[in-house]
Amino acid sequence: MKKTVLVSGGAGFIGSHVTVELLEAGYDVVVADNFSNCDRTCFEGVKKITGREDLPLEVMDFCDLKAVKALFGKYHIDAVIHFAAFKAVGESVAKPLMYYKNNLESFLNVLEVAGAQPGGCNVLFSSSATVYGEPDVVPVTENTPRKPATSPYGNTKTMCEDILRDTVKASDGALKGILLRYFNPIGAHPSALIGELPRGVPNNLVPFITQTAIGKRECLNIFGNDYPTPDGTCQRDYIDIVDLARAHVYAVTRMMEGKMKKDCEVFNVGTGRPVSVLELVNAFEKVNGVKVPHKFAPRRPGDVTAIWADPTLANEEMGWKATRTVEETLKAAWAWECHLAQQKETGSDDTGKATSLKDQILQAADKANEAISDAIDKVKEYSALSPEEKKAKQDEWNSKLTEAAEKASDSVKDIVDDIKEGADKLFKGKKD
Ligand code: UD1
Repeated sequence: MKKTVLVSGGAGFIGSHVTVELLEAGYDVVVADNFSNCDRTCFEGVKKITGREDLPLEVMDFCDLKAVKALFGKYHIDAVIHFAAFKAVGESVAKPLMYYKNNLESFLNVLEVAGAQPGGCNVLFSSSATVYGEPDVVPVTENTPRKPATSPYGNTKTMCEDILRDTVKASDGALKGILLRYFNPIGAHPSALIGELPRGVPNNLVPFITQTAIGKRECLNIFGNDYPTPDGTCQRDYIDIVDLARAHVYAVTRMMEGKMKKDCEVFNVGTGRPVSVLELVNAFEKVNGVKVPHKFAPRRPGDVTAIWADPTLANEEMGWKATRTVEETLKAAWAWECHLAQQKETGSDDTGKATSLKDQILQAADKANEAISDAIDKVKEYSALSPEEKKAKQDEWNSKLTEAAEKASDSVKDIVDDIKEGADKLFKGKKD
C-alpha cells in the first residue's frame, strides 16, 4: 500500500518542491497550508507538474490543535514533514513573540498529535545551518557544536530540534525523527512552474539578484567586501532546491524502511561547495547573459563570514548527494523570474491570488463564527445564573464576558482586514 506523507507548509517554496519529489517517488501526499506567507501559485504549479489535479489540500493553521487532530483523523499519515513556520530573520527580531508562538506552537501540536497515532509516526523537521552560528571550523559536520542563535527565528530552529529529540526519546518508539539542516536553498523547478515567491523586498540573495536582473530592483547591495574570505564577500553553501527536495525523499524512505541507526537523526543538506556572494553574482550574469547592477554596501548585522557543509553523512548514510551545478541552478532561478514576469504581463496570476484570498477570508470567517458562538454561550450561561450567583461572582463574569466580546469583535476585524489586504493585493498586482 502507498504510504502517505503530510507536508505542513506544503504550498511554500521548499514544501512545494518536496511535494513534487514525493509524488514522483510514489508517495501519496497531503498538502496543508494556511497561506499566511504564500499564495496558490506553487500549489497550482505542483498539480501541473505532477498531473495530480486531485492532490489533497487542507487549508489550516497548525497552531490550531483541534484542526491538527481533525487532519490526522481524516487521513492515515505515515510521516509528517514540518515546514509550517515563519522564516524572516529581521521580522523575528522585531516580533519575537509572534515567531516563538507560531513556530513552537505549530510544531508542538504536530508532535502531540503524531505521537498519539496508533502505530506511531515519522517526523521530519526542517532545520537550518543557522543553528551552527559563526562556526570556528568549516566545513561543518553534524557534530560541529551549535552556537547561540542570533535571532528569534534561529532560536526557534534550535528549540524545535531539541523538542523533537526529547519527544522522540520519551515516546517509547512511537515517534521517529530526522532533522535536516538546510544550507542555502536556491533555484527553482526545471519546469519553471514553481519557485521562490518572496513577499515585498527579498531578504535572501538569489531572489534579490533575479529581481534586479529583471528590473524590479535598481541595484543589488553586496553586504560587505572586507570579510576574511578570498574575495572579501561572504561564502555560503548554495544548494539547488530540487536536490534539497530529493533529500527529503531519501530521509522519509529511510524512516519508513526502518533503516535509521538512532530514533532521532541529524543530516546536513548541502553540497560541500563554498561560493562567495560575488562569485554567485558573476556566475548568474554569465550563465544567463544578463546584467545584475550591484555595488558594495556595509556588512549586514548578524551575517556569518563563511559556512558550508560537510555532507559526507547524508551522502554515505542516506545515499543522497547534491547533483546540480551552481550554473544549472542559477539558470532555473532566472527562468522562474521570467515566468513570473510573463504571468504578470498576461494577468494569469490573478486567479491564484483570488483563490488564496478566498481561503484566507473563509478561515477568518470560521474563527469569527467560533468566537461569536462562544460569546453567545457565555451570555446564556450568565443569564441562567440566579441573582445571588451573579452577585457573588460579578467580577469574574465581567471579565469573562468582556473577554468573549472582545475576541468576537477582534475576529470580525480580522475578516475586514483580510478583505482590505486582499483587495489591495489584487489592485497592486494590476498597477505593477
Ligand atoms: C539566511 C538566514 C538563515 C536562513 C536562510 C534561509 C540570516 C543571518 N540568515 O541565511 O538563518 O536559514 O537565510 O534561506 O539572515 N546578501 C547580499 N545582498 C542581499 C542579500 C544577501 O549581499 O541583498 C548576502 C548576505 O550578506 C549573505 C549571502 O548573501 O552573505 C546570503 O544571504 P541570504 O540569502 O540572506 O542567506 P543567509 O544569510 O546565509
